Amino acid sequence: MAALYPFLLFLHGLTRWFVVLGGAWLVLSALGSLGRGGSADVAPVRTPWKAYMGSIHLQLLLGLVLLFVSPLAQAAMGDMGTAMKVRPMRFFVVEHTTMMLVALVIAQWGSVKARNASSSAAAARTSLIFGGLSLLLILAAIPWPFMGEIARPWLRSW
Ligand code: HEM
Repeated sequence: MAALYPFLLFLHGLTRWFVVLGGAWLVLSALGSLGRGGSADVAPVRTPWKAYMGSIHLQLLLGLVLLFVSPLAQAAMGDMGTAMKVRPMRFFVVEHTTMMLVALVIAQWGSVKARNASSSAAAARTSLIFGGLSLLLILAAIPWPFMGEIARPWLRSW
């Protein structure tokens, strides 16, 4: 268990970059296909959606395991009253987790809507709105190195 924690933190911190790059790829592809206008091809956003959703699902899985393995999360869940007053505990167990789950639901919803869209313009519009919104939420909930008490490194070694 003691060795699993740093390894999971390393993986969860690394996978964040696949999520961010996947989201950026999706938004840029959607913008590109909006610009191209009325072709009936829904394909331009299909592969970016697969990359984005795959990395978010992996991140969710790692995050869920971390909730049970992280000493910080375990201490927080053992005494939620105190945890709500301690910024890093509240952030990781409540804010980070909730915002990421909401982002995942929005992204999942958007990927299904885009897949069933009737034209490439509709798929691009849906991808831009749902993909963009979920990516913004994710970017806001990542503990970036400049975030004071909750700061985590750009990339962790393990
Ligand atoms: C797209 C989704 C997510 C992204 C991009 C993300 C990103 C991150 C990052 C960058 C860290 C810091 C890693 C480090 O210290 O090197 C972190 C920590 C953590 N995340 Fe996530 N996360 C996501 C989803 C989740 C979810 C859904 C959960 C819970 C179900 C979760 C639970 C945690 C926990 C418990 C920690 C560790 C706190 C600690 O022990 O220091 N994460 N996350």
